[in-house]
Amino acid sequence: MSGEPFDKRDGWIWYDGALVPWQDAKLHVLSHGLHYASCVFEGERAYGGEIFKSTAHSERLRYSAELLDFTIPYSIQEIDAAKRLTLEKNGLVNAYVRPVAWRGSEMMGVSAQSNQIHLAIGVWEWPSYFDPAQRLKGLRLDLAEFRRPDPATIPCKAKAAGLYMICTISKHKAERRGYADALMLDYRGLVAECTGANIFFVRDGVIHTPTPDCFLDGITRRTVIELARRHGIEVVERQIRPEELSDFSECFISGTAAEVTPVGEIADWRFAPTGITHQLMDAYSQEVQPKKAAA
Ligand SMILES: Cc1ncc(COP(=O)(O)O)c(C=O)c1O
Repeated sequence: MSGEPFDKRDGWIWYDGALVPWQDAKLHVLSHGLHYASCVFEGERAYGGEIFKSTAHSERLRYSAELLDFTIPYSIQEIDAAKRLTLEKNGLVNAYVRPVAWRGSEMMGVSAQSNQIHLAIGVWEWPSYFDPAQRLKGLRLDLAEFRRPDPATIPCKAKAAGLYMICTISKHKAERRGYADALMLDYRGLVAECTGANIFFVRDGVIHTPTPDCFLDGITRRTVIELARRHGIEVVERQIRPEELSDFSECFISGTAAEVTPVGEIADWRFAPTGITHQLMDAYSQEVQPKKAAA
């Protein structure tokens, strides 16, 4: 996505408890979050004025911070309320919501025991994560060189800024090679996820998706599994080897930003994302709409 740089836009950002003009929402270059990646964030979407699964995202944000050994000084309810307020103040109903928490500047070594914890929330319009034309045809995915690391080496359940370093490198390389994104294997060589979304496959009417034992168990992923089962579609969570990709007929990815997006190819493997993929795209679009209170 190009357009106006993010620091030059207008609007309001919630910053440490107050709404501040967008361009005043700054931090010092000597911030621990910037140098040592002590920073966690969320990606959420509001539909029709309501953030889909807001509380689940706020819970994950606080949990990610705990995994990085810091506590966000706001409760789940306060974070939910701050996100709503930021949307309202910016006059947005359909929007992407980005809370971010980080360690400040009090100490600037590896140890940062007494650093202040900051929280900011930005919201903006972000209609489609992938080019709509590519989305319609089914994305083309490269195979990434970097692998999702062993959970013994990273806090793999945290949505932590540092864990995205290999995602950005992998996505850049894929884009340079003409692909929309990249599939990442894990440290064992098993199929894991994309650089910002989980992955699903279909074979003989059954959905197969990797067990999230070393990567994010996405909120969208869990929603898609629930929707599939509600539609009577069997979902198997298991280890998937890359050689098995030739056996699958459909492939799609899921994530808050990506929503449910069909995949047409991964390296030399081809898919025809049709029946189940389209069924779940529709089901997800309906599910995210605010539920009208019964009259
Ligand atoms: C690496 C990665 N995996 C999976 C997901 C999907 O998570 P969710 O559905 O909670 O947005 C995301 C997006 O946040 C992600 O960045």
